Amino acid sequence: MRAVVVEKHGGPEVLTPSEVDSPTPGPGQLLVKVAAAGVNFMDVYQREAIGRYAMAPPFTPGAEGAGTVIASGSGVAEFASGDRVAWVTAPGSYAEQVLIDAKQAVPVPPDVDLETAAAVILQGMTAHYLALSTYPIQPRDFVVIHAAAGGVGLLLTQIAAMRGATIIATASTPKKAEIASQAGAHHVSDYQTFDSVVREITTGAGARAVYDGVGKTTFDQSLASVAPRGHVVVYGAASGQVEPFDIERLASSGSVYLSRPLLGHYIATRDELLGRANDLFGWIASGKLKVSIGGRYPLERAEQAHRDLQSRQTSGKLLLIP
Ligand SMILES: NC(=O)c1ccc[n+]([C@@H]2O[C@H](COP(=O)([O-])OP(=O)(O)OC[C@H]3O[C@@H](n4cnc5c(N)ncnc54)[C@H](OP(=O)(O)O)[C@@H]3O)[C@@H](O)[C@H]2O)c1
Repeated sequence: MRAVVVEKHGGPEVLTPSEVDSPTPGPGQLLVKVAAAGVNFMDVYQREAIGRYAMAPPFTPGAEGAGTVIASGSGVAEFASGDRVAWVTAPGSYAEQVLIDAKQAVPVPPDVDLETAAAVILQGMTAHYLALSTYPIQPRDFVVIHAAAGGVGLLLTQIAAMRGATIIATASTPKKAEIASQAGAHHVSDYQTFDSVVREITTGAGARAVYDGVGKTTFDQSLASVAPRGHVVVYGAASGQVEPFDIERLASSGSVYLSRPLLGHYIATRDELLGRANDLFGWIASGKLKVSIGGRYPLERAEQAHRDLQSRQTSGKLLLIP
């Protein structure tokens, strides 16, 4: 089968399409024909060997996707050949076939197509836990959503709007600002002045929560935008990791709650995994949640997909279609 292989860490050019052996499912595993694999910043961090995501070469990147079960190992009762599933934790998803732990597979309902499932499962469950669990958004809360036209941002903006929040978004270009507005943002700011924009809109009070997936370049202003006893949720690092800082700043910023959550901890049980996924699929089927696919690439063009993701020019989800 065809797969993308990384023989040594480096830039997008190390993503090499190769012929490899098909894997065989072990106990509790599913072998799945990949219909679409999600392209995520996490895959860039794997490729570049950054932080907790570093993997030893040779490896096939990717972790997210959707497809059809071809075979299952012993002890799998919940799934059979032909079932449609989506996943966020299958290492090596940039391939025609991948192995998944059956406990990590999510059934895809008939009214959701596999490309949409692959496009929403990781960023959608992230947006779901950020808005419903890390800080559960209340009606009329003022919330800041950074990079609202990005993958997580676009979904989080729609979910925050469903929950009745007033959304102050950031975006880097007028086109992205328009996309954020269409998703439900009430105000859109640039990155240079967003803390003063938030103070003006909230008549000095600050935002109840700031959702920050940009990290390094936005963190100081995020802290300056939040209300006393509000929440700064740093869930990503699109611009780089937040620098170490003095914890006393949380006190002087208004006894602020700061969290650095990870999806894995919010889908740790099967009930939680299926609960979040089923909410998303239900919202998609009823038209409440729109999933935007920003680009489709064959495996041979994984290099270009990474270049585009990192270029900051894309909006919505990038998919590899094996
Ligand atoms: N903690 C978790 O559970 C979790 C789960 C999923 C993703 N994440 C992380 O969250 C972050 C965002 O992920 P995503 O999938 O939403 O990515 P994405 O779709 O590419 O969005 C990232 C956005 O960040 C903005 N940005 C600001 N500075 C940037 C820079 N220097 N380089 C590139 N983009 C920059 C861009 O929007 P503008 O051009 O409008 O600024 C870009 O669209 C990533 O760090 C990812 O690893 C964390």
